[in-house]
Amino acid sequence: KWPKQVMIKEVGPRDGLQNEKTAIPTEDKIAWINQLSQTGLTYIEITSFVHPKWVPQLADALEVATRIERAPGVTYAALVPNQKGLEKALAAEVDEVAVFMSASETHNRKNINKSIEETFPVLEEVVKTAKQEGKTVRGYVSTAFGCPYEGNVAIEQVIRVSERLFAMGIDELSLGDTIGVATPKQVLELLEAVLQRFPKEKLAMHFHDTRGTALANILVSLEMGITTFDSSLGGLGGCPYAPGASGNVATDDLVYMLHGMGIATGIDVERLTAAALFIRDTIGRPLSSRYLQTVAR
Ligand code: HMG
Ligand code: MG
Repeated sequence: KWPKQVMIKEVGPRDGLQNEKTAIPTEDKIAWINQLSQTGLTYIEITSFVHPKWVPQLADALEVATRIERAPGVTYAALVPNQKGLEKALAAEVDEVAVFMSASETHNRKNINKSIEETFPVLEEVVKTAKQEGKTVRGYVSTAFGCPYEGNVAIEQVIRVSERLFAMGIDELSLGDTIGVATPKQVLELLEAVLQRFPKEKLAMHFHDTRGTALANILVSLEMGITTFDSSLGGLGGCPYAPGASGNVATDDLVYMLHGMGIATGIDVERLTAAALFIRDTIGRPLSSRYLQTVAR
C-alpha cells in the first residue's frame, strides 16, 4: 500500500525564506544550504531569480547560487519566472530550473503580472532554452486546490494548465496547495483525474500546512502512488502573493512520519535537526514544525 522509498524535495531556502519578515544575511543562507547538503537530502531549491522588488528576501540569488558548496549527488534547483530569470540561473549554473504559474487567473496575475494565456508563451520559451542548455525543468501549478482571490479552483483548470506545461517538455509537475486549504478528499479527487492523464513518476505534491491538513494530504497522496513531496525544514514559508498563506509542510515532521511508517528517505534525522535549529536561531523565532518542538535545545 505504501512505497518503500520517498523523494523529499527541500524548498525551504526558496519557498521558506521568500516570505520571512526578518532579513537573513546571505552568509547564513549559504551556511544553511551547506548544512542541508550534508543531511542526505538529494534535492534543494536554493533560491529564485525573480524581480528583487517583488521578492526582496531573495535579491541575493546570484550570490547564494554561486557561493554554496555543491555536494555530489545533490540537485540544486532555482525558481525562474521568465527568460531574464533563466539567464541568471544559467549563469549561476544551477542543475535544474523550476517554472511556475497558477491554475487560477487572479493569483496568476497577482503573482507574475500576466494572465494565464499570456504566461504560456513565456514559459514555453524558458523551458525550450533550459532544455537546450541541458537542464531538467520542473513545473509548478499553484492554487491547484484553491485560490486566495477566487476560492474553489476547478479540477479541469488544473488539468488544462498541467497539460500545457507537459506539452512544453517539463520533466516533473508539482501540484501546489499554495494557501493550504486542501483536504484528503479533495486530494483524492484531483489525483484520480490527474493520474488518468500523467504518469505518477512525473508528479510531485507541494502542500502548505496553513490549516494543519498537509500530512493527511500526503498520506492520501502516498496511497495514490505519489512518491515525491516538497517540504520546508521547520515549516518555513509561504507565498508573498497569497495573503494568509503560511509555511510548507515541515520536512522534519514529514521525515518523522515517513520513517515511522518504514518508508526510507535517505535523510539523517540528527543532521536535519541540527540544520533546523540553525535556521530557527538565525530567524530568531519558533518555527511551526511540531517535531522541532520536541527537541529541547
Ligand atoms: P513585470 O513587472 O511584469 O516584468 O514582473 P516585466 O517583464 O514587465 O519587466 C519589468 C522590469 O523587471 C524590467 O526592468 C525587467 O528587466 C525586470 P526595467 O527594464 O524596468 O529596468 N525583470 C526582472 N528582473 C530580475 N529578474 C527577473 C526579471 N524579469 C523582469 N526574472 C515578474 C514580472 C515575473 C518578473 C514579477 O512579477 C516577479 O518577479 N514575480 C515573482 C513572484 C514570486 O516570486 N512569487 C513567489 C513564488 S511562487 C510560489 O511561491 C508558489 C510555489 O511555491 C508553489 C505553490 O505553493 O503553489 C512555487
Ligand atoms: Mg509554495
